[in-house]
Amino acid sequence: MKKIIQDFEVRENKSLSNVHFILELRSPSELPDIFPGQFAEVLVPGATHTFLRRPFSIHDVDFKNHTISFFIKCVGEGSTKLRTLQKGDMLNVMLPLGNTFGLDLTGKALLVGGGCGVAPLFFLAKCLHEKNIALDILFGACRKEDISLVSEMEKFGNVHVTTEDGSMGEKGLVTAHTVLKDISSYSKIFCCGPEPMMKAVAALAKKNSVDCEVSLENTMACGLGACLCCVTETVEGNKCVCTDGPVFNINSLKWQI
Ligand SMILES: Cc1cc2nc3c(=O)[nH]c(=O)nc-3n(C[C@H](O)[C@H](O)[C@H](O)COP(=O)(O)OP(=O)(O)OC[C@H]3O[C@@H](n4cnc5c(N)ncnc54)[C@H](O)[C@@H]3O)c2cc1C
Ligand code: FES
Repeated sequence: MKKIIQDFEVRENKSLSNVHFILELRSPSELPDIFPGQFAEVLVPGATHTFLRRPFSIHDVDFKNHTISFFIKCVGEGSTKLRTLQKGDMLNVMLPLGNTFGLDLTGKALLVGGGCGVAPLFFLAKCLHEKNIALDILFGACRKEDISLVSEMEKFGNVHVTTEDGSMGEKGLVTAHTVLKDISSYSKIFCCGPEPMMKAVAALAKKNSVDCEVSLENTMACGLGACLCCVTETVEGNKCVCTDGPVFNINSLKWQI
């Protein structure tokens, strides 16, 4: 798959909350093929300690207008610096990296996103919707302020929300949401979020024999399979999350679930 490393121009930097924002970038040339689940490595400009590129999922793509966007949570120097970028600033980005979610399915799919896990699920939901796949989308977070993009996702399917403090949607963990009572009605589950949450969703999927893919966010450096800092244990031995993933079928992971 063709990869590019080039400067993109910031089109918009839209704040969604105290910590979340969407960065929209425009490529000076036509974008290569990009599929849901893939990510980019971003070189953060002017950050004193952030010399390694930072990985971010492709949140959305507009091939006609040569734009891509990232949904980002501020957690440290790199992401906080990206929040300060202004329209017209330039950002060096390498993309597309990694594998993709499996889009070959029939029947109804469930997308489960925890916190920042919504980032790759938007592009996935858009592509599945274009393929006329019926979707339920379940978001989980600690509190209402951590839930984003509900109205945007409603264009693609039925959106359900859980918060641990009950400030929005059902109170509790995503795995306790009533939509999962009928888990066998889904032909596939796609999940992205904190690892304990993905493991809990994977356990439910496995128990009910529902196909399930998860997107891992192991710490990365090179993003190209060279440094081996992102490996995860699979039934076929250790695999690099950056090149063999980030999307894995739960049956291929050596998870204790
Ligand atoms: C394939 C992949 C896709 C990703 N997609 C997204 C995305 O779409 N949106 C997004 O906001 N983030 C995403 N991440 C996480 C993102 O890469 C990190 O949050 C970012 O690199 C942190 O850089 P920083 O310089 O801001 O923080 P640093 O200064 O590097 O770290 C600050 C703090 O954040 C913690 N931290 C660093 N990385 C992570 C992580 N992966 N998860 C939780 N805590 C972390 C560190 O342990 C440290 O405590 C993704 C990660 C991977 C591997
Ligand atoms: S990040 Fe270097 S091998 Fe995966």
